[in-house]
Amino acid sequence: MADKGTFYITTPIYYPSDKLHIGHSYCSVAADTMARFKRLTGYDVFFLTGTDEHGQKIERRAQEEGVTPKQFVDRIVAGIKDLWKMMDVEYSDFIRTTDKRHEAVVQKIFRKLYEQGDIYKGEYEGWYCTPCEAHWTQSQLKEGKLCPDCGRPVERVREESYFFRTSKYQDWLIQYIQEHPDFIQPPSRANEMLANFLRPGLQDLCVSRTSFTWGVPVDFDPGHVVYVWIDALSNYITALGWGSDDDALYRKYWPADIHLVGKEIIRFHTIYWPIMLKALGLPLPKQIFGHGWLVFGGEKMSKSLGNVVDPVVLCNRYTSDAIRYFLMREMPFGADGNFTNEALLTRMNADLANDLGNLVSRTVAMIEKYFDGRVPACGETTDTDRALRTLAEGLAAQVEQNMDALQFSLALAEIWKLVGECNRYIDLNAPWLLARNEAERPRLGTVLYHLAECVRRIAVLIAPFMPRTPERIFAQIGVTDAGLKTWASLQGFGALEPGTRVQKGEALFPRIDIPKELEALAEAEKLRKPGDAAAQGAPAAETAPAAPDKPTITIDDFAKLDLRVALVTACERVKKSDKLLQLTLKVGAQTRTVLSGIAGQYTPEEMVGKKVVLLYNLAPRKMRGIESQGMVLAAGDHDTFRLLAIDGDIPDGSEVS
Ligand code: ME8
Repeated sequence: MADKGTFYITTPIYYPSDKLHIGHSYCSVAADTMARFKRLTGYDVFFLTGTDEHGQKIERRAQEEGVTPKQFVDRIVAGIKDLWKMMDVEYSDFIRTTDKRHEAVVQKIFRKLYEQGDIYKGEYEGWYCTPCEAHWTQSQLKEGKLCPDCGRPVERVREESYFFRTSKYQDWLIQYIQEHPDFIQPPSRANEMLANFLRPGLQDLCVSRTSFTWGVPVDFDPGHVVYVWIDALSNYITALGWGSDDDALYRKYWPADIHLVGKEIIRFHTIYWPIMLKALGLPLPKQIFGHGWLVFGGEKMSKSLGNVVDPVVLCNRYTSDAIRYFLMREMPFGADGNFTNEALLTRMNADLANDLGNLVSRTVAMIEKYFDGRVPACGETTDTDRALRTLAEGLAAQVEQNMDALQFSLALAEIWKLVGECNRYIDLNAPWLLARNEAERPRLGTVLYHLAECVRRIAVLIAPFMPRTPERIFAQIGVTDAGLKTWASLQGFGALEPGTRVQKGEALFPRIDIPKELEALAEAEKLRKPGDAAAQGAPAAETAPAAPDKPTITIDDFAKLDLRVALVTACERVKKSDKLLQLTLKVGAQTRTVLSGIAGQYTPEEMVGKKVVLLYNLAPRKMRGIESQGMVLAAGDHDTFRLLAIDGDIPDGSEVS
């Protein structure tokens, strides 16, 4: 196929503050589907994804786990890469904002903007939402001093900061958006940006912080780190080598064709990013598409609300192709959609097991039965055959049109029209009746040829959505020639050679007993939810995940641990931490202060009076400015665990051995 030029698509770079959920998979699967579609239709594609690793939230999470921020993100990023492998998200590059190649260029961008007067030093005072990494003005807050995006409490902050003079570019941007109706999609999001942010007047953006250190340092002003959005947004060009010695990829692929982002970050991508690029003298991306959210009972699915669905569990149980199909089919892209297990299983049964699975298995079974397993020749055609052909021949263009508008769901609906028509065509022509009459043999051949050729075409058409299923279909209808798997092979009707040997295989998607499966799935999700991020790509656990065995130790090694019974005499939450409780422990005649990451599981009130097991001779460590003198023991993993208890009334201070 002729080379149609380049196509550059990106996902947001996700925060590796926790393992990703199905909402993140939704965006990455959409980007991957688009990338595959463009490759299949003759484009030279670059597909970028990655992780946004700096900022206070990650610094805090690492602190709570007692590891360095880099160790913390390395572990989660490994899990994310496993997840993308599992879901066949095949990116061209994975950028991490901790990559040296990125950090160096971010410093360069910051300095350039400063030197040309677009960044200036001032003092920041306002409200800050740590989970969203977003600053808000008083008037933007929800009632009760809550973040307008996520609804959680915000913090008052005041510090010396650098500011980006975005107000200078406001009129230019308003005009640009008005003159480029495709720039922000869907169009309702453009109106939202104009009405809510641009026309009321842009506030200069705070672009540096002094309150944490986990970020790219401002090289000419130590003590300041680049505040995340300048760092994060630049990934789209640093990954291509802009500003480095080798910018060949930048020259080849920029400007991006599509930045795919969730609707909550469209503001950063359609206001601050274009202004940054304009200030740097660079072309703007062609389109920013803000997709909707997967919601659960009306609430955005998010880790902190505890309503997330783990893609690993689903892929292990149903295959990633089925999950990808569901994500792309169920909700119109751009709108919010409710995610339920029931909807997933219902669609799998209806569309995959019944419609597609049955079509393939019936077609292959009939060719085996009536033509010794060889695709028959096509004879004279009737109106019904021609109607089916017309539908099949027009499909590639229909799919292209819908894909160009990022209407994944409509593209699939078009393909499934052909699947449905083929099934009706079988019922209408009743091959089993034709087979009873020798005189109808040519007609039987024509009918089965049409079906086999349609099945081949369907396999080609679904490839961007479901990368593994086409090969399973090709194997059943005997297609080995790579030329018959291309988009070009959809031109005309009849590329499949008569005489091709078919081979019945396993059912593509076995039917599911929905009520029974819903119960089993709920159970599997319960077990899996506590799994840690590094196990993101691991097989679904049927029981608690087995911890890796550690090397054998001697009793002398064990004797090095000084374990004691301790009584909690006081307990309070540690300020600015969701996880930590500060415990005052009585250990015989001693009093100890210990910080423990158990605030998600225990309240301070219920802790007081409990007897716990304390690792007494652990080297003290400072967290949040408080020295923690030991560690309280617990079992489970990082989301679900319980403290070790003493069976009976043993006095505090007693040794545990
Ligand atoms: O915002 N439904 O990272 P993030 C659909 N680091 N999509 C969802 C979703 C849901 N319930 N939850 C998350 C950040 N997403 C920044 C981005 S880019 C320069 C910096 C998807 O980890 C959606 O695409 O919070 C959303 O925009 C993205 O994950 C946010 O991921």
